[in-house]
Amino acid sequence: MNLQVVTIDGPAASGKSSVSRELAREMGWRWVSTGAFYRGLAYVAQATGVDIGSEEALSRLAHSSIWEVQLGEDRTKVFLNGNDVTENIYREEVGTAASQLSLYPKVRASLLAAQRACANASSWLVAEGRDCGTVVFPEAPLKIYLTARSEARAQRRAAEEGSSLEEMQRVQAERDKQDTTRKAAPLQIPENAHVIDTSSMELNEVVDAVKALVETSLQL
Ligand code: DC
Repeated sequence: MNLQVVTIDGPAASGKSSVSRELAREMGWRWVSTGAFYRGLAYVAQATGVDIGSEEALSRLAHSSIWEVQLGEDRTKVFLNGNDVTENIYREEVGTAASQLSLYPKVRASLLAAQRACANASSWLVAEGRDCGTVVFPEAPLKIYLTARSEARAQRRAAEEGSSLEEMQRVQAERDKQDTTRKAAPLQIPENAHVIDTSSMELNEVVDAVKALVETSLQL
């Protein structure tokens, strides 16, 4: 059985999560935001006093059963000691900490098996992140790469979080730099990926473009 996965990668606030969620909803598929694994680990490290600078301690924590990621229709969720802490992990400062710990190869390797386990033979999965098409699911039959101008991305996230545009642009530029220049699994356009610039597109237009690719590229 071939891998039933569509990957959607791209930089912060390029629309990956919104597009994945909507595509999965319209197709009746499941979706996972792999960023939730990095955000969840960053949040759990902070909450339990684990040093965010220690690759060893973080990769042990990555395997710990005190926390887990669960797929959901609206968001990929994180539970710590059985409590739903999802609300906390999507803040921009947790994103920044997640980007920092995602630099460590051992941490990435420790999260990989759980990310791959999201795929199964009974239904299609939309997997979004930075390295879904390159590292997590290199065999995926359809790979998308979303991009958008930095002002458009900062505007989207600043509006969502109610923060200043200049500050958001600065934070995102730093995160983009960290995500694209790291040695382990840097953000890059996967080979054979379809690139969509979402700067001046509405969400439904992007979803329609991806659905058209699904129809032409996949045998469902
Ligand atoms: O997509 P996001 O903003 O939720 O991701 C948060 C951080 O997690 C991102 O800045 C880098 C890291 N990440 C990663 O390294 N690889 C992924 N596949 C997804 C996220």
